[in-house]
Amino acid sequence: MITNRKIEHLTLCTEEDVESGKTGFSDIRFVHNALPEVSKSTLDTTATFLGNHFSNPVFIAGMTGGHPETTRVNAALAEAAEQLGIGIGVGSQRAAIENPKLIESFSIVRERAPHAFVVANIGALQIKEYELEVVERLIEMVDANALAIHLNFLQEAIQPEGNTDAEGCLEAIESVSKSVRVPIIAKETGAGISREVAVRLKKAGVSAIDVGGAGGTSWAKVEAFRASNDPTLERLGTLYESWGIPTAVSILEASSLPIIATGGIRNGLQVAKSIALGASLCGIGLPLLKPALNGSVHVINEISSVVEELKVAMFLTGSTELDDLRSTPLIITGETAQTLQLRGFNLMRPQERR
Ligand SMILES: Cc1cc2nc3c(=O)[nH]c(=O)nc-3n(C[C@H](O)[C@H](O)[C@H](O)COP(=O)(O)O)c2cc1C
Repeated sequence: MITNRKIEHLTLCTEEDVESGKTGFSDIRFVHNALPEVSKSTLDTTATFLGNHFSNPVFIAGMTGGHPETTRVNAALAEAAEQLGIGIGVGSQRAAIENPKLIESFSIVRERAPHAFVVANIGALQIKEYELEVVERLIEMVDANALAIHLNFLQEAIQPEGNTDAEGCLEAIESVSKSVRVPIIAKETGAGISREVAVRLKKAGVSAIDVGGAGGTSWAKVEAFRASNDPTLERLGTLYESWGIPTAVSILEASSLPIIATGGIRNGLQVAKSIALGASLCGIGLPLLKPALNGSVHVINEISSVVEELKVAMFLTGSTELDDLRSTPLIITGETAQTLQLRGFNLMRPQERR
């Protein structure tokens, strides 16, 4: 069942409009620097996350594996990660635990990206049930540098086969965080992570957060498509398709831990804004799916365009390295500013407060 679902999700994500909601990035602007006094050709896009170094901050969000046909998708994504010197995640490895024949659809990532920072993936709902030995197998399967534990309760609430018993997840995350040898990244999948949840995750021993905010791929929308012969579920998915904390807001909400900004990141200007708000890396999912079906060259081209776009934002703000983006003036307006103010955030950067 899981294997069929994986391929259904992949097909829907490549054939239908599965995005919904607002990321908040359109409310955020840099102040143009007419005298940047830096050379665009020598800008440094290198990024650091959990002590690892990357040639640029783009991270390939964990999406797939779990069906024989996904092996070539993961292979293309992994080859791109290896060639570009960036990090990569895999999709939920649950299917490979239940059917070892599917291991290759995940292990291909480490095979094709021997030097990359690879992130294993499993749901919080699964780790509640798994023995520690099973969690260790997930990490070994891709020789992972970190383990992402995903939180996807919006999707579970709409999926016909969804599991909505969220009790005991934090305790399970805490127990895994204490026991495994790699850092744990808590990861949403499109509804974002709040300050309160980030603090609880930090206390539980989580090392980083992938905000997986709203405004990009909507799992409620994907499930609404899948439920086209079940009017109740279809209606539920449509009602909740834009539910969640916008990615730009969630970056600030979850800032008590190092952050991967994921959810609706579609260009290098949004990457620059995410870094300026405090993210260390920026995850891109859906836009890499179709290119991956056509081979690694297409994935490399897409990510290279994003990096070029990032460089122009750096140039026009006089930022020689990513860290400089964090101190460049930023204007936050509209719904994003209102939301942040209502949530108690100071919109002025420390150096702007007079
Ligand atoms: C086809 C597809 C499958 C995904 N599968 C998983 C998964 O198994 N585990 C997970 O944590 N996130 C999964 N995601 C979520 C992504 O990692 C990411 O958080 C989300 O797609 C938002 O980013 P985007 O708007 O750039 O697509 C999947 C996304 C897509 C598009």
